[in-house]
Amino acid sequence: MGQYDFEGGLRGGGSNGLVMSAWPGVIETYRKYLPVTEKTPVVTLYEGNTPLVPAPRLAEATDPSLEIYLKCEGFNPTGSFKDRGMTMAMSKALEAGSRAVICASTGNTSASAAAFAARAGLRAFVMVPKGAIALGKLSQAAIHGAKVLTVDGNFDQALSIVRQIAETQPVTLVNSVNPFRLEGQKTAAFEVVDQLGRPPDYHLIPVGNAGNISAYWRGYREYHRDGKIKDLPRMVGFQAAGAAPIYENRIIDEPRTVATAIKIGNPASWGLALEAMQDSQGWIEVVTDEEILRAYRLLAREEGIFMEPASAATVAGLMKMVKAGRFEPGSTLVLTLTGHGLKDPDTALESATRPTTVPASIDAVLAQLGL
Ligand code: F0G
Repeated sequence: MGQYDFEGGLRGGGSNGLVMSAWPGVIETYRKYLPVTEKTPVVTLYEGNTPLVPAPRLAEATDPSLEIYLKCEGFNPTGSFKDRGMTMAMSKALEAGSRAVICASTGNTSASAAAFAARAGLRAFVMVPKGAIALGKLSQAAIHGAKVLTVDGNFDQALSIVRQIAETQPVTLVNSVNPFRLEGQKTAAFEVVDQLGRPPDYHLIPVGNAGNISAYWRGYREYHRDGKIKDLPRMVGFQAAGAAPIYENRIIDEPRTVATAIKIGNPASWGLALEAMQDSQGWIEVVTDEEILRAYRLLAREEGIFMEPASAATVAGLMKMVKAGRFEPGSTLVLTLTGHGLKDPDTALESATRPTTVPASIDAVLAQLGL
């Protein structure tokens, strides 16, 4: 625990007289592993340092011999793991003299890009698929002042458009095809090792555009090369059954799933994700929407952790894989939970018991409580 290097970080006195070290964000913390120099203007919202939460109830519900941890990336500043990549992409854009950034998004990238662009003083343009993005994400992009375009098409089409625009126009693409995004996101693997004191045996993660699984694998490999860990985890990715191009080994023209964050039919980092799975002796699986929603509720009710449906795909995957006997007893598993549940209030309300309206009287309330 707590092997962080706070060199260059902020220090202040706590009211209890102890010296507290403030987390300086992922670039300062992992500077030596990142392509930054003294000249790079660091744009940070103090992202990273997310909790690694033990999940004993999940183990009980699946296989009590497993040691299960949840890497809760929904607790980043804008509520998703994208902030790790965005601090890098935005800092490098600023360093290169860029004045504006652009991205296509199923929601979280647009929220993060909008926030970091605001912080950096850059203009942000975001394109999201019409009617297929969770309300919280849309409101984030809007309030941070991004120019939001809803496209009458899906994510893959939007990505293709912004890629072409960024090739000819004076605007920096901040999707995960921007190489600095994955560089920032690999810090999540460093944190897992720093928090756990070792690598897990298996790392479970949802797969959409396939950047994050690739970034984690890069992070683990770099710590391995650096002698910080002796073993490497197996990377296990999960796609939603209606949006599973890698699992099915074909482009899906009209992807469908309740987990809108991973509703993607032609992932940009397809090749890198395959490499991560093959090199780590891992694999990719699918989970149905029904399994995702069941896991979503279980996570909230049993562990007290509210993450969005795409994150719950990982928990659904855990349950499916344990049933299939894929993990040796006693294994240590880390599950990345990628985005906060508040991102998608509609799905939460649809998945839970609706509130009951009562008259403003004690008797009426008591009648409902059944104490
Ligand atoms: N989970 C969440 C909550 C996401 O927002 C995403 C991707 C993923 C998982 C999948 O990660 O793409 O690296 O494989 N969201 C992107 C976006 C596509 O636009 O916000 P990936």
